[in-house]
Amino acid sequence: MATALKRLAGKVALITGGASGLGECTAKLFAEQGAKVIVADINGELGQVVSAAIGSANSRFVHCDVSKEEDVKNAVDIAVTTYGKLDIVFNNAGIVDPAKASITDNKKEDFDRVLSVNVAGVFLGMKHAARVMVPARSGSIISMSSIASEVSGITPHAYTCSKHAIVGLTKNLAVELGQFGIRVNCLSPYGMFTPMAYNSGKIDRKTFENILNSYGNLKGVTLTTDDVANAALFLASNDAKYISGHNLHVDGGFCLASTANMFKNEENHDPTGEKWFL
Ligand SMILES: NC(=O)c1ccc[n+]([C@@H]2O[C@H](COP(=O)([O-])OP(=O)(O)OC[C@H]3O[C@@H](n4cnc5c(N)ncnc54)[C@H](O)[C@@H]3O)[C@@H](O)[C@H]2O)c1
Repeated sequence: MATALKRLAGKVALITGGASGLGECTAKLFAEQGAKVIVADINGELGQVVSAAIGSANSRFVHCDVSKEEDVKNAVDIAVTTYGKLDIVFNNAGIVDPAKASITDNKKEDFDRVLSVNVAGVFLGMKHAARVMVPARSGSIISMSSIASEVSGITPHAYTCSKHAIVGLTKNLAVELGQFGIRVNCLSPYGMFTPMAYNSGKIDRKTFENILNSYGNLKGVTLTTDDVANAALFLASNDAKYISGHNLHVDGGFCLASTANMFKNEENHDPTGEKWFL
């Protein structure tokens, strides 16, 4: 029986925030599908574990703080010197600011910190991806946005602002890089149980997923990191060869369902008092 062709055979990918959650899941899937993967993250301990799990022949960990241009430049250069080229950059690293009831409780340093990672980090990933992809006249740049790019009032201000900005950057760059055959897209998932949620220690997986499923539009299924990794794989692969400038919602229709209104419904009140819809 013929073996199915791996969808990223011969490709080289760099994934920021690849040490945990969605980045880890995507790094492993891309490697299974034949890619060499650079795991770029500030968390060296977890990043090394992910890279080792993929195998040293196909993966390398690089310490990279995406808010620092020299780190992003270095990670891209290491991809090219190690594997000879760079086909896919997934700007996935992201953080969230503390949920506050009022903007007057928000601190400017939290706002600046979130934008420096979520927006400047994506900008730098795009810039240095373009630096090596333009001469190659090909590439796929994917960035991680969120349903917060579409639905208002359910995530903290800096996070919401950052995820809108990622869509803007994606569209602008898709126009600029189309002439070079480079595709630029972003993903907007609904909420999932990843370290971004459970590091708070305030909620367990079952409670978290029950809450999300109750608010979700598509019933009978729970969104997982595998689902988002599969969407990233689609955008990275030749299956999406004519898709550029797109914000792919992985949300079961949540953004279309005017769901923000449901948050005003007492029955749907989140008992943790947190806003977990990342
Ligand atoms: N979890 C969700 O429900 C959800 C939903 C929609 C979008 N997202 C987005 O998905 C992305 C990944 O989030 P996750 O849920 O996997 O969270 P996570 O916390 O598990 O993963 C984030 C990773 O980014 C790394 N990171 C943080 N700051 C960094 C920096 N300055 N430079 C490099 N790496 C850095 C962390 O070390 C971590 O490995 C984020 O952009 C997030 O906004 C998450």
